[in-house]
Amino acid sequence: MFKKIKEDLSIVFERDPAARSYLEILTTYPGVHAILFHRIAHRVWKIKLFWLGRLISHISRFLTGIEIHPGAVIGSRFFIDHGMGVVIGETSIIGDDCTIYHGVTLGGTSWKQGKRHPTLQNKVIVGAGAKILGPIIIGSGAKIGSNAVVIKDIPKNVVAVGIPARIIQDTENKTNAFRPYAVGKDETDPMAKSIQSLIKQVNKQEKMISALENTLAEISKK
Ligand SMILES: CC(C)(COP(=O)(O)OP(=O)(O)OC[C@H]1O[C@@H](n2cnc3c(N)ncnc32)[C@H](O)[C@@H]1OP(=O)(O)O)[C@@H](O)C(=O)NCCC(=O)NCCS
Repeated sequence: MFKKIKEDLSIVFERDPAARSYLEILTTYPGVHAILFHRIAHRVWKIKLFWLGRLISHISRFLTGIEIHPGAVIGSRFFIDHGMGVVIGETSIIGDDCTIYHGVTLGGTSWKQGKRHPTLQNKVIVGAGAKILGPIIIGSGAKIGSNAVVIKDIPKNVVAVGIPARIIQDTENKTNAFRPYAVGKDETDPMAKSIQSLIKQVNKQEKMISALENTLAEISKK
């Protein structure tokens, strides 16, 4: 559990450009507080101290605005950015290296006992306000756009947006780096990148044209 907690803290540096120090993370990140509380609540839940688990989860919700049922199974290096309004249901399963933003719901759609909440495989990113409903599976590396409503399985390495969510991109061949906004930390904005490459091309062509003009001028002198 302590290894997981240490990892939960250190990944904040990778996923939030605003993070400056461990002190800042420990004292000002509600998403981190909620995960720390959950690690304890889940331990307690697993040894069947159900009321105590619910109580810890409730205190965490009161302090952070993030509701994680103590029964939810959450993998390593999970990050909740901003956090307010997040709800994670009892039978949710979250893999390793997932990130979710404020207002995300991993919710159920039936009263049936048993698995009724979603499963996020590894490296899933869920944008602000998205709702993922029912015992569906979000494949590894998938990205869910902000405010999407997802009610069917989503394959791995795709981007899905809208209500109901539809797939708009296949990102299989893109970098594995963390890319919450479709742009990674070390990447420039794609539009800026295209403009830069156009400018390079124009400069190259200008040089070629002036070399041609010089050659033509020399030929016409002869
Ligand atoms: C899903 C996401 C990653 C897609 O980014 P992208 O690959 O750059 O996609 P684009 O902006 O090129 O958009 C592609 C298409 O999807 C649509 N689209 C993008 N995001 C959408 C969303 N959240 N809901 C509905 N449609 C969306 C665009 O309008 C565009 O449609 P078009 O082709 O008909 O014009 C991004 O839009 C997103 O929602 N990221 C989450 C960010 C977030 O929650 N941040 C919180 C920080 S506090």
